[in-house]
Amino acid sequence: MEDSFEPVILAMCCQWCSYAAADLAGTMRLSYPPNVKIMLVPCTGRIDILHLLRALENGVDGVFVSGCLLGDCHYVNGNYKATRRMAYTKKILSEIGIEPERVEIYYNSSAMGPQFAQTCRDFTARIRGLGPIYRKLAA
Ligand code: FES
Repeated sequence: MEDSFEPVILAMCCQWCSYAAADLAGTMRLSYPPNVKIMLVPCTGRIDILHLLRALENGVDGVFVSGCLLGDCHYVNGNYKATRRMAYTKKILSEIGIEPERVEIYYNSSAMGPQFAQTCRDFTARIRGLGPIYRKLAA
């Protein structure tokens, strides 16, 4: 049963860099796991802690945020805000008994299609190793 576990992963990608990196990965025909569902956001600074927690609450096994490289945010400091919120989200998760590794932040420029695909593969492998989140939520 556990061997067949396929995680559901949400990738929140900023429209300026990471979404373009995902697009580039597709254009380059780079494969990455279909487990990753991409959501376009205007900037990672727009993502609230509640958005991350709500996704996990609703059955997503892992969430990663992917923004512009630090210093390159189109809204100046959105990715720095997202970085701080991610750290706080991890703290909340560990306090309630959920692995903080289920959330992560990455930085991918629009030219980093291969790195984006690798991010998807690495994060999917990580979440597959953690197992389904419903076991944690039911405990
Ligand atoms: Fe990309 Fe802010 S616009 S992280």
